[in-house]
Amino acid sequence: MTDTNVEAAKRAAGQQAVADHFDANASYVGIGSGTTIVYVVEAIKERSTNPAIRFVPTGYQSRQVIINAGLTPLGFDSLPDGVMLDVAFDGADEVDSELNCIKGGGACLFQEKLVAERAKKFVCVADYRKRQDRLLTQWPTIPIEVAPLSQNKVAAALKTLGSTNPKLRTTLLDKSGPLKTDQDFYIIDAAFPTLLTRKDVQEGRGKGDGSDGTWEVNNIAKAIKSLTGVLEVGIFSGLNGLDAQALREKDGERSA
Ligand code: 5RP
Repeated sequence: MTDTNVEAAKRAAGQQAVADHFDANASYVGIGSGTTIVYVVEAIKERSTNPAIRFVPTGYQSRQVIINAGLTPLGFDSLPDGVMLDVAFDGADEVDSELNCIKGGGACLFQEKLVAERAKKFVCVADYRKRQDRLLTQWPTIPIEVAPLSQNKVAAALKTLGSTNPKLRTTLLDKSGPLKTDQDFYIIDAAFPTLLTRKDVQEGRGKGDGSDGTWEVNNIAKAIKSLTGVLEVGIFSGLNGLDAQALREKDGERSA
């Protein structure tokens, strides 16, 4: 696939997501990070003339995308108490058959999770390259946001959980320095064997609790999150109680 086709697929995914899930009468809309989200915002801009909508970003890049489109940003911590976002759109690095996602390729996972969890509906916008049966098939690592002081301790603990090569992410331009997130934290990218789904465990493909070298998505997310120094893990699962089977059926209807 050429870059042009990839961009066309990202645009198509963005357009479809907005057509299906954006309501021009919404009050609060979450806007994620990355390159696909730019097409989501473009599609919203084409539809919405409602200046009352507030768009809640997941970091500096996302805020800039909102501003560049002439939309109105609202910081997460300025949301009124108890108010949920009507919907949150975000990209993903990989999505499995149970709609679990790897996120954090762009280092924005903490704010992305805050926003996703505050939304009545989380819409993950992913093109054909991202969909795999299992996580860590094409995308090789789990991004983990850690407090700088804890980086060595967390990296060592990740090895005991079975990560082959936990690596501190550096900036693209300066490989000698660690990349800093919007929270001034670091990112460790931890390679693990391909993660099992719940169905895999039910079908006996592995225990999925680490004891036999296999990890199920939710189990590894919990194990990593429990390490002191970890702010957030780039595994998003079970958001809004998404029913993977129902969505697969909907997918089927659409392609039928
Ligand atoms: C940033 C993210 C992004 O949503 C994810 O990396 C997808 O990005 P893109 O749309 O550029 O492929 O999680 O931390």
